[in-house]
Amino acid sequence: MQYITLNTGAQMPMMGFGVFRVPDPKECEDSVYEAIRIGYRLIDTATAYRNEEAVGAAVRRAIADGICAREDLFVTSKLWVTDMKDEATAAAGIDASLDRLDIGYLDLYLEHQAYNDYFAAWRAMQDAYRAGKLRAIGVSNFYPNILTNFCECVEVVPAVNQVELHPYYTQEHGLMAEESAMDVMHRYGVVPEAWAPLGGGRYNPFEEPDFLAIAEAHGKTVGQVILRWNIQRGVVVIPKSTHVERIRENFDVWDFELTPDEMATISSHDMGYSGSRAKHFEPSFVRMVLGKE
Ligand SMILES: NC(=O)c1ccc[n+]([C@@H]2O[C@H](COP(=O)([O-])OP(=O)(O)OC[C@H]3O[C@@H](n4cnc5c(N)ncnc54)[C@H](OP(=O)(O)O)[C@@H]3O)[C@@H](O)[C@H]2O)c1
Repeated sequence: MQYITLNTGAQMPMMGFGVFRVPDPKECEDSVYEAIRIGYRLIDTATAYRNEEAVGAAVRRAIADGICAREDLFVTSKLWVTDMKDEATAAAGIDASLDRLDIGYLDLYLEHQAYNDYFAAWRAMQDAYRAGKLRAIGVSNFYPNILTNFCECVEVVPAVNQVELHPYYTQEHGLMAEESAMDVMHRYGVVPEAWAPLGGGRYNPFEEPDFLAIAEAHGKTVGQVILRWNIQRGVVVIPKSTHVERIRENFDVWDFELTPDEMATISSHDMGYSGSRAKHFEPSFVRMVLGKE
């Protein structure tokens, strides 16, 4: 396992396990428990995923079974936008996540989107961070202009920005902007974390001839190659799977290294935009997320 140092000084594992769209509590608990048994130390959940209780149960079970200690794990959750109405609502939202997880503290807590009053919510996040309830605080889906404004204005600079990041959307090229999302994160010392690192079931990287050739050259799978590509460029990855053989496969990325040419070939598939359903720049998407339509 490789780690990356956050602006808090904490070590964050560069490989984690995501649990978006795992609503069944037993399936979620069993997948997280299995992931921890395999060696994952970072778990990524969110208020919006409605499975924080199951994640907490798996973590407590893994600790009780002696697989690891609480301090070996790095558990992340996120504040949903409707809890970001004002400071008091955000403080209650943070405490509700901590109650549902019931694992003492969170290693990282993120504002899920830059919607609603995300500055007021951040003040509550800063308070919870200073109180030690949240060991690090960060953001998600903060695009370059928003992240720049945010980092220039807040007291505690976010430790992490979790954004869509895979070979079809590398975030390396600014769209009508001089600095890309990656440039801005590097400038402010914000660690990039990839959601949908395998493409989120949308792009089918698994049959891409370039990726298959690189995978074959290293005796690895396409999934392992594209996870490794992100890790090698300093990006934390959190692939999701509910299949134990894939959970094991995705974790097995530490015994090979991609060459600079292979890295460039993978990056050359960048479309420069997201093909995902989450259209963060669309006004109708903003209203939908805020529950207005
Ligand atoms: N902050 C945000 O707004 C945001 C948005 C989306 C996601 N996330 C986080 O990021 C995590 C990962 O993103 P994601 O779940 O959207 O996408 P992903 O991890 O890129 O892809 C998951 C999909 O790939 C399949 N898969 C997993 N491993 C595979 C392998 N080795 N070979 C072939 N297929 C494989 C999974 O199917 P099976 O489960 O059937 O194996 C699932 O359909 C989420 O779980 C969540 O924690 C955050």
